Amino acid sequence: MTHSTKSWAVVPAAGVGKRMNADRPKQYLKLSGKTVLEHTLLRLLNAEIFAAIAVAISEEDPYWPELEVSTHEKIITAAGGKERADSVLSALKSIRTLASDNDWVLVHDAARPCITATDIHHLINSLVNDEVGGILALSSHDTLKNVQGNRIVGTLDRSHIWRALTPQMFRYGLLKNAMEAAEGNPAITDEASALELQGLQPKIVEGRPDNIKITRPEDLALAQFYMEHQND
Ligand code: C5P
Repeated sequence: MTHSTKSWAVVPAAGVGKRMNADRPKQYLKLSGKTVLEHTLLRLLNAEIFAAIAVAISEEDPYWPELEVSTHEKIITAAGGKERADSVLSALKSIRTLASDNDWVLVHDAARPCITATDIHHLINSLVNDEVGGILALSSHDTLKNVQGNRIVGTLDRSHIWRALTPQMFRYGLLKNAMEAAEGNPAITDEASALELQGLQPKIVEGRPDNIKITRPEDLALAQFYMEHQND
């Protein structure tokens, strides 16, 4: 990274997390005394590489102002949107007067609190000279089936299949343009897919399997286990 190029983080945190069946959005459930969102943000802050972190928060969210980290000098709050992609675009727009087109943006799910500095630095070091940018991902160990109804209609060649994680890292200008061009398209479930629609091929960088996304109730205990056993 040259001295003039900054790095920014964008954290979509405006989801409701229906699959958790909890009384509040999953990013506000607690792990070792702190909310999932606090863990995620503290880990990004502790990486000490971001000029600021833009966090997309739902306008009806009563929990965010209660968190001490919400007033941290490096945290910028943006309005969340209907879908994840809308929240990401809103956060990107919130830093438009601060970020240059050539700066890097790392978009990271609020629901991935086990992200490590090792993975963040591995991603950055792998992409710093890349034209397009890329994402952390994991290869699939399971055999993958194409299913219609409840019947298998095919088996995918898993040697070509990767699971997309976050952070996903792209140049600010390229990412914002791609997200604007893809606005309203339900197929855009991550940033890389918006870049793919532009005909670009983001790079795959192998990530750590402990960077899980909290989705179901049992994931909280697993995240807690990983956090207790991570020492980097
Ligand atoms: O629901 P899912 O786990 O795919 O959400 C991924 C991330 O996107 C979560 O951190 C969630 O808070 C965020 N999100 C958002 N705005 C939405 C929907 C999801 O910021 N409208």
